[in-house]
Amino acid sequence: MPAETTPMSTDLTDSAALARRFPADFVWGVATSAFQIEGAAHEDGKGESIWDRFCRVPGAIADASNGDVACDHVHRLDADLDLIASLGVDLYRFSVSWPRVQPLGHGAWNEKGLAFYDRLVDGLLARGLQPHLTLNHWDLPQALQDSGGWATRDTVWRFIDYARGMQQRLGDRLAAITTHNEPWVIAVLGHEQGIFAPGLKSRATAAQVAHHLLLSHGLAVQALRADSAKAKLGIVLNLAPAVPATVTPEDRAQAQLDDARGRRWYTDPLFKGSYPQEVLDELGADAPHVEPGDMAHIATPIDYLGVNYYSRVVSSAGKPFDIKTGGLPLTEMGWEVYPQGLTELLQTLHDDYTLPAVYITENGGAFKEQVDDARVHDPERVHYLQTHIAAVADAMQVGVPMAGYMVWSLMDNFEWSSGYAKRFGIVHVDYATQQRRLKDSAHWYRDFVARCHAARPAGKKG
Ligand code: FCB
Repeated sequence: MPAETTPMSTDLTDSAALARRFPADFVWGVATSAFQIEGAAHEDGKGESIWDRFCRVPGAIADASNGDVACDHVHRLDADLDLIASLGVDLYRFSVSWPRVQPLGHGAWNEKGLAFYDRLVDGLLARGLQPHLTLNHWDLPQALQDSGGWATRDTVWRFIDYARGMQQRLGDRLAAITTHNEPWVIAVLGHEQGIFAPGLKSRATAAQVAHHLLLSHGLAVQALRADSAKAKLGIVLNLAPAVPATVTPEDRAQAQLDDARGRRWYTDPLFKGSYPQEVLDELGADAPHVEPGDMAHIATPIDYLGVNYYSRVVSSAGKPFDIKTGGLPLTEMGWEVYPQGLTELLQTLHDDYTLPAVYITENGGAFKEQVDDARVHDPERVHYLQTHIAAVADAMQVGVPMAGYMVWSLMDNFEWSSGYAKRFGIVHVDYATQQRRLKDSAHWYRDFVARCHAARPAGKKG
């Protein structure tokens, strides 16, 4: 492989040494999203989401499952909050199901849905946990999709109303509000490849969707600030370094284009106010319609950037989206385990832009695990977490303004088109009984976070 591998600079068997590499104010958390855990899909006035609909498309979900019950989190909220608290983390990243609080995506609010998130946020605060709320983790109200979804500019205004409504209801108690989770996934997997909701297959639509997501992000940040936001405001991107599969000029050029399409298409507008010209050229007539002023709105300063990191992209000429690997160990998703890519990615972002605070908002993996009655053994996940946390420390060492790290995921859950077969949790879920059991990785993470906290001045809560 042409990619350089940076040696890890921490002895991973020594959690104490790893913990010492993080400053006292660095925060640790676990993450989930509404559709993947909540269940209660047709209760208490919740509207239909595009994922409720997509799960009904034959063949869309590997195990033909859906989110109707998922982890039954809505009915097990208090126990799940206790579970999070038992891990000793500083924060919990969760998302709001837009159709649960505003069933049609506009107009009437659903008081029962809002009350659920009130209880969630209050329950976190009562347990000393910071609430990090994501507004859009993909489950758009189906009613908005019926009138064009993210492909239409009208959805931008609907999103701003929704964002303002949520801030009005919960904003006084939130530590952070993320506008969107992974706009690339919504645009490309949802509207170009059609393997995620809403299942469309048009490159032009995907490009327009990406633009509307970014625009709605910038305008929502402005609107929330105008309404005196107390929470920190940001966006979460899925990012991966793109490396050429071979040293040929064609593969190198493909890696540059993949980087521009997957990363800079999002980070350039956010931090420079423009789209990368080479992607606009490549899109040609499929490039999005951009109105005067849009780019400046997108570049509205944010308080933090959230980075979701899982693996790298290995680029082969003429084969976009063809997932190739470079011979490294793979997770159950077929994603390469490549921790130094996280350091490389963060360093590149730091070189390219003036970054705000950066959180790793998702990191983790689906691995084979061995369940016995008393324990769930997941040594590969423990190693994955250790090496990636060390990679974050390496990035901090070269000056990247890292502020926190969140494991994906708190517990096993509905993994989109993979259904329930792929398990990302550090807590095991037995879907037949809904019993939760800490995996070895949860024990490791809890002990590691405790070591980080032990180094804090007395009374300091991250
Ligand atoms: C990310 C998603 C998250 C989860 C992980 C594995 O792309 O944000 O919901 O599915 O992948």
